[in-house]
Amino acid sequence: GLVQSIRRVLSEQQTDVPVQVHGWVKSVRVQKRVAFAMIQDGTSTESLQVVFQNPILAHRLTNGAGVRLTGKLCASPGSGQAVELVADTVDVLGECDPATYPIQKQSLTVEYLRDNAHLRTRTSASAAVLRLRDQSQKALSNYFSRHDFTYAHTPIITSLDSEGAGETFRIAPVKPLPSSLGHSSSAQSEEFFSQPAYLTVSSQLHLEALANSLSRVWTLSPCFRAEHSQTSRHLAEFWMLEAEWAFTDDLDDLCQVVEHLIKEVLRMDSPDRRLLWKEGNKQKQELLNTAASDKAWPRITYTEAIQELEKQNAATGQFKFNPQWGKSLSSEHERWLAEDLVRGPVFVTDYPVELKPFYMRLNDDQKTVACFDLLVPFLGELVGGSLREERLHLLEQALDRHSLSRDAYRWYLDLRQFGGVPHGGFGLGFERLISWLSGIENVRECIAMPRWAGRMLL
Ligand code: 4AD
Ligand code: MG
Repeated sequence: GLVQSIRRVLSEQQTDVPVQVHGWVKSVRVQKRVAFAMIQDGTSTESLQVVFQNPILAHRLTNGAGVRLTGKLCASPGSGQAVELVADTVDVLGECDPATYPIQKQSLTVEYLRDNAHLRTRTSASAAVLRLRDQSQKALSNYFSRHDFTYAHTPIITSLDSEGAGETFRIAPVKPLPSSLGHSSSAQSEEFFSQPAYLTVSSQLHLEALANSLSRVWTLSPCFRAEHSQTSRHLAEFWMLEAEWAFTDDLDDLCQVVEHLIKEVLRMDSPDRRLLWKEGNKQKQELLNTAASDKAWPRITYTEAIQELEKQNAATGQFKFNPQWGKSLSSEHERWLAEDLVRGPVFVTDYPVELKPFYMRLNDDQKTVACFDLLVPFLGELVGGSLREERLHLLEQALDRHSLSRDAYRWYLDLRQFGGVPHGGFGLGFERLISWLSGIENVRECIAMPRWAGRMLL
């Protein structure tokens, strides 16, 4: 790569050495006696200035063209870069017509770039997002390796809607099954798997099976939700980081893991993140720096959160939706808690049982479950997690309450029946993490090729 070769030359304190580099042209400036070009290869934020002592050499260079250059790396007299390439030869490997190239120099709107998702990673910001995803994934992976979590690959095709929210995509083969495979004319035999199949909405239930044998597991997996809400936080295909571990019966333990894990990513030094924040909101960035400090993130119960929201509403009447015990927190409530009450990430714990999926562990008060949502400023919910109901009879009752068939969940009930131990875990939206880390407002810019209701280019 471009940067690698430069680093190697610099570390050996050699200049005037011949090198060959590959990259794409970001800009060209041709003068009478000399020409300059900036090239990048996408491996980092860095670019290389190229000097053409014979400007004819630069004639075929246009923005976006892919090139191979040879020359000598020399100390740069100009400011802004330590070294530059004085070019001897230029090969244009991929021409790029400046008149029709969709990625023009002037700033392009977010909408326009979404329409050109196949080309948008050619912009510095969009490329930086992808490298930031990669660095974040490595930081998360490091944390889990150090704590004896096994990375597990969980299925994408599933038999259940694990969240019970009815946002599942159903899948079917394009070609019908050959009749030789159909057992009867019943509707069931028409199904490829002899039963309905769905794209996963969460790996949690499968991770629970693995946690009850491997103790500690995690995954980063695509998840699919037929979300009709068009918000800056929802995608139809997104990546979720999920962890699940056995032998824990303590919600505080879950929150602590989440906090340490995320702080590790917040503290990561990343030139890509700096590039993305360059024009970002200073207040947001300060809140992020505070969140990265050693100070523990506060935890309040849902009941306390409702009391605070009611107090605030009585004083200002600022909320569109009245906060009320037993009702979901709306996103304005979530943001007020994180941005105004706490001014940082906050764990809201112990929600009413009616608001949460069947698998969460019932508290002794019989009214709430041992769960948390992590709310962060300018985003809202980043993580959701809970202790899981490990008591077989209570889990059966929960399935009944949610009108879910014990039959369909037989394997899940087995986990309790055979050596199942107290356990818990969480799920973190990877695009939301990237959005929070980078200050990018919409998750549609936090994944290379976003999908949402009504939209799936390429
Ligand atoms: O809160 P959710 O729905 O929780 C679960 O699915 C649990 N089974 C996770 C677990 O405990 N293992 O989703 C978890 C997180 C949310 O907090 C949010 O950050 C993200 O996933 N998320 C989405 N991100 C982008 N687009 C969507 N449509 C999302 N839905 C959830
Ligand atoms: Mg949630």
